[in-house]
Amino acid sequence: MTQDPHSKNTVILSDSPRGLRAAAALLHAGEQVAFPTETVYGLGADARNPRAVAGIFAAKGRPAFNPLIVHVPDVEAARALAEFGDDARILAATFWPGPLTLVLPRRPAAGLADLATAGLETVGIRVPAHPLARRLLIAFGGPVAAPSANPSGRVSPTSAAHVLEGLRGRIAGVVDGGTCPVGVESTIVGFDGGRPILLRPGGIPVAALSEALGREIGRPVTTGIIAPGQMTSHYAPRAQLRLEASGPGPDELWLGFGPVESLRPGLNLSPSGDLAEAAANLFAHLREIDAMATKSGVKCVAVAAIPGKGLGEAINDRLRRAAAPRPAG
Ligand code: TXA
Ligand code: MG
Repeated sequence: MTQDPHSKNTVILSDSPRGLRAAAALLHAGEQVAFPTETVYGLGADARNPRAVAGIFAAKGRPAFNPLIVHVPDVEAARALAEFGDDARILAATFWPGPLTLVLPRRPAAGLADLATAGLETVGIRVPAHPLARRLLIAFGGPVAAPSANPSGRVSPTSAAHVLEGLRGRIAGVVDGGTCPVGVESTIVGFDGGRPILLRPGGIPVAALSEALGREIGRPVTTGIIAPGQMTSHYAPRAQLRLEASGPGPDELWLGFGPVESLRPGLNLSPSGDLAEAAANLFAHLREIDAMATKSGVKCVAVAAIPGKGLGEAINDRLRRAAAPRPAG
C-alpha cells in the first residue's frame, strides 16, 4: 500500500488543560492545529515560524497571496504587533475580545513571518472571545496565525467534525470545543488614510461599529483587492444555490428562514426568524443541505430571503459567495 508522505495522524484533543497543553506543544513544534473560536474553527500555527505558516497554506491549498489573521490573547499583545490609530483603539476597546479583525500597519520588529501577512505592510489581528481559544493562546504564549480551518474555497467549519471532514490527515490535531456560537467569521475593518473601511461583514454588525466610532464605516472601492477572502466564489457547496427565493421549485431543496415552511424537503436556518440563530446554523446547514442534495440527486437549493440588517449582512455576504459561479476544477 502506498502511503501519502504528507499524510499525518490528526489527533483529536479535548478541551481539558492537558488537551490544551498538547495543542500548545504542537504549535511550538511548528505543527498546524485547529481550534474553536466564537466565529468558526481556525487552523492555527506559530505566526513567527515561516515553515509553520507555510504548513497552513499547504494544508488548506490556500493561495499564498491571501494573508492570514493573527490571533493574540489581549490588546497588549496586539499592540506589540501593529500600530493603532485612535479609531482602532476605540474599536479594540469596545469589541475585543470578540469577532472583530483589525487590519493595521504592521510593526516590522514584531517578528511575524512575512508569509503570514502575504508580504503586506499591514497585519490582520484578532483577540478571540472563545474561552478555549484564549486559553490556547495563553498556553502557547505567542501570536497564532489562523485562517478558517477548511480547504480553501469551501464552507467554513463550525465543529471539530467539520474540520476533520476537510483536513483529516493534513494537520496535526484539532481541539474539540463543540460548536461555534456565532457561526460566521469576524467582521474585518481596515483603515484608508485613517478612515475606517469595512473589508468583510461578519459577527459584529456594521451599525455597532459606526455607533462606537460616531461615524460611518466606509466601503472599499472594489478595484484591486484588499481582502482576498473577498474573492467572489467562496464557501462553495456542490449544489447550486438560488437566493432570495419565495419558495422551492419542483426540482429544488429548500433552505428556509422564518416561520413559513415548505412541503419540499429541506432545512430552516431559523424557524423563528432570528438572525443570530441563522448565523450560528449557516455553515452547518449549508453542509447538510449539500449532502442531502448529493444523496437525492438534486442540483439546486432554493434559499429564502434573509433581511440585510445586523448579522443579516454577513449571512447574505456568505450566501452570495456560496452561490457565485466558480472557476472550473
Ligand atoms: O472569524 C474569523 O475571522 C476566522 C477565525 C478563525 O478567526 N478567521 C478567518 O480567516 O475567517 P480567513 O483566513 O478565512 O479570512 C481572513 C480574511 C481573508 O479574507 C484575508 O484576505 C483577510 O482576512 N486579511 C488578513 N490579513 C489581511 C491584511 N493584512 N489585509 C487585508 N486583508 C487581510
Ligand atoms: Mg476562510
